[in-house]
Amino acid sequence: MRFPTHLRRIALLLFISVAGVARGGGLDGVWRIEMRKPFGVTLRTYLIFHEDAGQVRGMVFANSSSKVAIADVRTDGPDTLFQIPWGWNFRVRPDGGNLHVVITYDGGGRDEETAVPASESEMQPPPRIAPPAVVDVPDNGLARTPPMGWNSWNHFAERVDDRVVREAADAMVSSGMAAAGYVYINIDDTWEAGRDAQGNIVANQKFPDMRALADYVHSTGLKLGIYSSPGPLTCGGYEGSYGHEEQDARTYAGWGIDYLKYDWCSAGRIYGNADLRAVYQKMGVALQGSGHAIVFSLCQYGMNDVWTWGPKVGGNLWRTTGDISDNWKSMSNIGFNQGHLAPYAGPGHWNDPDMLEVGNGGMTPDEYRTHFSLWSMLAAPLMAGNDLHGMSAGTRDILTNREVIAVDQDALGREAVRIADNGGVEIWTRPLADGGLAVAFFNRNAEEMPSGVSWSALGLGAPPAAIRDLWGHAGVAPDAAGYSGTVPGHGVVMLRVR
Ligand code: GLA
Repeated sequence: MRFPTHLRRIALLLFISVAGVARGGGLDGVWRIEMRKPFGVTLRTYLIFHEDAGQVRGMVFANSSSKVAIADVRTDGPDTLFQIPWGWNFRVRPDGGNLHVVITYDGGGRDEETAVPASESEMQPPPRIAPPAVVDVPDNGLARTPPMGWNSWNHFAERVDDRVVREAADAMVSSGMAAAGYVYINIDDTWEAGRDAQGNIVANQKFPDMRALADYVHSTGLKLGIYSSPGPLTCGGYEGSYGHEEQDARTYAGWGIDYLKYDWCSAGRIYGNADLRAVYQKMGVALQGSGHAIVFSLCQYGMNDVWTWGPKVGGNLWRTTGDISDNWKSMSNIGFNQGHLAPYAGPGHWNDPDMLEVGNGGMTPDEYRTHFSLWSMLAAPLMAGNDLHGMSAGTRDILTNREVIAVDQDALGREAVRIADNGGVEIWTRPLADGGLAVAFFNRNAEEMPSGVSWSALGLGAPPAAIRDLWGHAGVAPDAAGYSGTVPGHGVVMLRVR
């Protein structure tokens, strides 16, 4: 099944409080569902119900660390129906000592499962391993400009496999993205099977030979990335690196892996916020000891002001937010709220407002141009999250706009700040290594709006010698007082002035 877009945080411990629910009957207790994936992995989900005075209270423990209240609980004959806000819809019925469970997913797909009696103790995380004493891990020398590449999650989620990754590498080259600066082909969650007798992490049937895949990706001139968690399970409920950090770093190095995204997820069941730095440090040190250059991408949704300590654990980038979705609201809420983090970005260590949704279909071309421009102004990693193999020419043109990419990749590494908000048209500026300035006019209104700025408001004493429109790919005749123009609804005008 395909995880719905809004269901990115599918992993460890999802509590569902079922209060005031009509009695279903026969649900009381703890139940385990073993969800067998067609690629040789079994994921566990637990249902816990307490029936009391005609009410059913309950919770679902489904690979996630989020607590989510359920809505719309009802009975239908012998069935109890409820849903969770992520779009999992349950129909549960007692069935000869077990439960018969049907889960339908809003994003498509249906699972029919048997839940068997289980115990609360099965759900407990393993014992806590004391994290190391905090030290300052040296800079690994990587990611002098924000990493550029592709990641499987936003489009493929669980459907990523060896073929998808090879096709992404091929398409990155044939589309011109590689020539435009994209380097990393990153496998996100759901590649893991478990561990062998020696404790080595093993890929599942979707990835028959990780070393051969890395060799292939390297043969195209690109680099390969992978995904794990400091917890026992990833966000999708797959094997994490807990207690195997050095061993996994060595395995990745042996495979030729060049990038690791390390996702907090179930670590939150064992560690508190105060442990975040030490826990990430453990893998930062392990990667640097692995003998292979591996970019370290911290994914913990901005918790505990990660930007203040991310570089000190050997991190090259860190997520500043929860998961992005392929819509204007999600993208703009994330992107336009990053300005205060500008002081923390610089060569080797970057704020990561999450991966790109350009080309995934939920936004208009203007909205995707805004997304790509805003991320470039923010010196954000440019991780395409679409199907590169099947992308349209319009999507390719956005992702390969070299003039916008040059702003993202500017050697100075200074992130943009907002200097004005005129009725929902925000002006952001970013100083560039050549002494020039990138200036972006973002229109957050749905309708076209006029916008402009005086040279003095940009701190320029005189009209700039050159003004370049980075989406129009043309020079703009300088006006004595400043720049003025119109910006499409949800669109952008992006200039480079010198
Ligand atoms: C979390 C991360 C996502 C993705 C999923 C995979 O939600 O934030 O980017 O990696 O886990 O399960």
